[in-house]
Amino acid sequence: MAAIEIKALEKDYKDVKALKGLDMVIEEGQVYGFCGPNGAGKTTTLKILVGLVRATSGEASIRGIDALNDGVEARKHVGYLPESYGMPRWDTPRKFLTYIGILSGMSKADISKRIEDISGEIGLTDNLDRKIKAISKGNKQRIGIAQALIHDPEILLFDEPTTGLDPIGRNDVLDTMREYANKGKTVLFSTHILSDVEKICDTVGIIHEGLLIEEGSPEELRKKHEAKDLDAVFLKVARHG
Ligand SMILES: Nc1ncnc2c1ncn2[C@@H]1O[C@H](COP(=O)(O)OP(=O)(O)O)[C@@H](O)[C@H]1O
Ligand SMILES: [Mg+2]
Repeated sequence: MAAIEIKALEKDYKDVKALKGLDMVIEEGQVYGFCGPNGAGKTTTLKILVGLVRATSGEASIRGIDALNDGVEARKHVGYLPESYGMPRWDTPRKFLTYIGILSGMSKADISKRIEDISGEIGLTDNLDRKIKAISKGNKQRIGIAQALIHDPEILLFDEPTTGLDPIGRNDVLDTMREYANKGKTVLFSTHILSDVEKICDTVGIIHEGLLIEEGSPEELRKKHEAKDLDAVFLKVARHG
């Protein structure tokens, strides 16, 4: 069974056709890099998968569960990192993460343990008890990631997790995603930073104007387009659509 399956997915925002019949299959245990220029439809796709945006037509499933009509059940398997969101500035990460854990139906004891474990893994421990407003952007991203991991989901959907981070922060986030997939879980993340994709992805999908125009392993795509790196692949395929 695929972790995620998307078929003929379309989304119209009034007169904007954001998705024009997207087809994607993401196998379990993979890191899948979802690449495309601004406005290509990446955020829309991820939001449809978590039920924040309603699809115009098409199908999407998560571990075989219909994500469009049985979203509550499908979302139990998913950890989602939005492109940006507000966190309670006056609370500490520990309090915020506890709150998110309670919303997922976890027990207080499970939440405490999980917060300690994840924080150790992603480097949040030293900031767990500071006020969020005093925490740097890179460390705020770690809180966002911890929030997505709290209920130990099978599938991660991360929307531009490395954008705006310094090289150390970016590497930490990439490592976290790779390690998660190495445990047999599945990671789908959007980005326009192709060097990040090259580092950790098993499969790359390039979305352009609401359609998947290229897919394969980084190596396959480089060979196919006789390109030295994915940037060169991207320029070739995105220009010609
Ligand atoms: N709420 C919205 N209302 C109208 N148009 C939108 C809305 N959200 C996104 N769009 C449009 O849909 C297209 C895809 O956007 P998006 O999914 O955010 O792309 P990406 O994440 O790849 O940058 C863009 O043309 C964008 O302007
Ligand atoms: Mg986006």
